[in-house]
Amino acid sequence: MALQQFVCCSSVMIILLCNDGHAQMSGVPILLAGSGSTRCSGRVEVYHNNIWGTVCDDGWGLNDAQVVCRQLNCGSALQALQMAYFGQGTGQIWLDDVVCSGSESSLTECQHRAFGSHNCVHGEDAGVICSGVPIRLAGSGSTRCSGRVEIYHNNSWGTVCDDGWDLNDAEVVCRELNCGPALEAPQFAYFGAGTGQIWLDNVTCSGNESSLTECKHSGWGTNNCGHNQDAGVICSGEKTFRY
Ligand SMILES: *[C@@H]1O[C@H](CO)[C@@H](O)[C@H](O)[C@H]1NC(C)=O
Ligand SMILES: *[C@@H]1O[C@H](CO)[C@@H](O)[C@H](O)[C@H]1NC(C)=O
Ligand SMILES: *[C@@H]1O[C@H](CO)[C@@H](O)[C@H](O)[C@H]1NC(C)=O
Repeated sequence: MALQQFVCCSSVMIILLCNDGHAQMSGVPILLAGSGSTRCSGRVEVYHNNIWGTVCDDGWGLNDAQVVCRQLNCGSALQALQMAYFGQGTGQIWLDDVVCSGSESSLTECQHRAFGSHNCVHGEDAGVICSGVPIRLAGSGSTRCSGRVEIYHNNSWGTVCDDGWDLNDAEVVCRELNCGPALEAPQFAYFGAGTGQIWLDNVTCSGNESSLTECKHSGWGTNNCGHNQDAGVICSGEKTFRY
């Protein structure tokens, strides 16, 4: 029962993310689980044939973790963990001998043995720790690489206020999403007004941070803004891709 509940809720989470048109649409669903896990750190699990299963740590390294972190919009990889660091999974071990270059947009695009073919036990389950909290681009006219900036914190998606919002800030968001350099940092809810929390205000990045939350800001949820000030980004990635 506990497992069913887990599978149910995790799937729902993935589907919600996918419905927003983000990178998760390529490749199979993926999530981070296990004891001490968060949305951006944990044992790597992939969904295949209607079953969640784990990844073996044979050859598991930072390039592989990088792909997982990017796929989950969780910033860059800080650590690639082996030997069931987040506890042992159960059931299938779906992937083994995973070899990513680091630029793939989904873990299953990396070289790996056939699904379910492995010489591992769950004591070798692979894990990751990513730098960032989840971030996404949403709103009317948004694409994978342009839109209203939204951040996931305390179990809900919220927006960023445009006070002091500039190209350095947008640069960090674009890099975090693997979307190339920033072209514009639109203010005044250019991509429409969001709803719910306004998580960040007075964001000040130097431009080289690996995640927006590493930049200075006034504190989670502390703001004097309305959603008509929601910040956006236009990154070069999507244009390069299109033209
Ligand atoms: C997180 O959300 C809960 C419920 O909405 C609230 O009680 C709590 O204060 C929030 N914590 C933070 C750090 O925002
Ligand atoms: C980022 O840039 C600032 C100045 O613009 C510099 O002081 C800092 O060392 C840089 N950080 C990294 C990680 O490169
Ligand atoms: C943002 O910065 C401005 C200018 O320094 C300041 O007046 C305002 O109080 C800050 N907002 C918050 C929510 O801290």
